[in-house]
Amino acid sequence: MTIIEELRDNRNLSDDGLLTIMHTDAFDQELRTLADGVRRAHYGTDVYLRGLIEFTSYCKCSCFYCGLRCGNPEAQRYRMTKEEILECCAEGYALGYRTFVLQGGEDPFFDDDAISDIVASIRRQYDDCAITLSIGEKSYESYKAFFDAGANRYLLRHETADEAHYSMLHPENMSSQHRKQCLFQLKEIGYQVGSGFMVGSPFQTKEHLLADLRFLQELSPDMIGIGPFIPARNTPFAEQEGGSLTLTLRMISILRLMFPYALLPATTALGTIHPHGRELGLQAGANVVMPNLSPAAYREKYAIYDNKICTGDESAQCRKCLEQRVASAGYQVVTNIGNVKR
Ligand code: 5AD
Ligand code: FES
Repeated sequence: MTIIEELRDNRNLSDDGLLTIMHTDAFDQELRTLADGVRRAHYGTDVYLRGLIEFTSYCKCSCFYCGLRCGNPEAQRYRMTKEEILECCAEGYALGYRTFVLQGGEDPFFDDDAISDIVASIRRQYDDCAITLSIGEKSYESYKAFFDAGANRYLLRHETADEAHYSMLHPENMSSQHRKQCLFQLKEIGYQVGSGFMVGSPFQTKEHLLADLRFLQELSPDMIGIGPFIPARNTPFAEQEGGSLTLTLRMISILRLMFPYALLPATTALGTIHPHGRELGLQAGANVVMPNLSPAAYREKYAIYDNKICTGDESAQCRKCLEQRVASAGYQVVTNIGNVKR
């Protein structure tokens, strides 16, 4: 049995086995073929859409890698009104989206009441849609309030599972332990949870990636979002090297084999470092794409990293573009709610 077949069969290769696969390109082709097989067995050729609404670029955090960090005076800041958010949802619904992802920095302007009010308004109008929040670390009570208002999914990447590595990427007031605690609380409340990490973040080793895989096994999230680290100007990591396409694709395939049921997005970051990054991501095992639904006027301002794609396009253009890209990769966009198939 090859190391890859072993991984497919018991989904739980030894640490040594995983490290061996991560360290070389020797298995990449076999890895991708098997991952695509597993993906087809669970999801066929379906690719789910998530309409992404980036509703605030304000953030009180100062993560060293992120262009929206509060310590970046050059970052362009905006907040969308509730009416603007609802307009995005209407546009998205007409385009066939049945999941809205409200993503933003940790912006105290949107307190619990404001978020709950926005969520409840979307819920009232779109009972057949999933409402996903991606707004960072909050208290159990806040998470519960949003859930009671009608939110049902939450995305919070753990970023890196290794505590020492986490502290190299974040200021002292943030901790890996608290982030993980948030994830378990979200699960307990009943959210469908998404986590994930950056590939090739500064100081990352293969052992850190291994720790990420092990943490994900513990958490067992529905969705796992990964993408390459991309340097952002005016951040402490502006001059650092970015994550590689091949390692990101390799990690997507490993995730597909270890988590056959998972929703794995081919991320915008992957599309940013290679013109066909998202198509390659789908072929490596990803089954979700997250087209941008934010008004075009705001897109460039949501600059988490440099050279982000899709900033000049209207939502309808993004929808068409992605449909074609997904088809060219050999899959098909479907317009249902796209729940996880455990
Ligand atoms: N490069 C790539 N991904 C980044 N993120 C934040 N900054 C960067 C960057 N410079 C990712 C983080 C975060 C998500 C919203 O975007 O993983 O959780
Ligand atoms: Fe947005 Fe291609 S997905 S323009």
